[in-house]
Amino acid sequence: MLTALKEKKSSFKPSPQAENFFKIDELPKFKSPVEADNHSKTDPALKEFFTGEIKDIFWAENHLVKALPKMQKAATSAVLAKAIGDHLIITKNHVVRLEKVFELLGEKIQAKKCDTMEGISKEGEGIIEDTDEGTSTRDVGIILASQKVEHYEIATYGGLSKLAATLGLNEIADLLNQTLAEEKETDELLSSIAENDINYAASAEA
Ligand SMILES: [Fe+2]
Ligand SMILES: [Fe+2]
Repeated sequence: MLTALKEKKSSFKPSPQAENFFKIDELPKFKSPVEADNHSKTDPALKEFFTGEIKDIFWAENHLVKALPKMQKAATSAVLAKAIGDHLIITKNHVVRLEKVFELLGEKIQAKKCDTMEGISKEGEGIIEDTDEGTSTRDVGIILASQKVEHYEIATYGGLSKLAATLGLNEIADLLNQTLAEEKETDELLSSIAENDINYAASAEA
């Protein structure tokens, strides 16, 4: 019996499929970006996750289109009000870019409520309620809340653009990177408005 088994084992020839399996098994553990790219194209779970995150940021951008005019109206400084107004125009274009992303994904345009953006914008409304109209202290609060928004967007677009590249969705990655650059610019502009003018003016208020 044992001899028979041994003989059987020695005459074993792997099928072509099994040979391929062993070749795959020999691949290095760490994949190059190109290999990772090819692999993820066959990963529907990751693409589904990505699409869900696009729906989330789409909700957030649409929410901002409604929230920014309130912030702009509440601002004391003309420079800050203009910066917020300019970002409103840019934000409307972020919505349009995301609509293009849905189109490229072959998905219908859909928003999924973003709890984070809802929370940050509520915080912004609370700051407006808790500060006096016409003060630089209110502007400090508006800038702080706005920068929290920008940092959330920077984190989201930064992560999603990398994920799009991993999925081989290069056109989408480009669109997300364009928005990412604009969010970063806005964040820097808000910092410079705070540091050059408003923080000092607020510190001099009673
Ligand atoms: Fe945006
Ligand atoms: Fe933004």
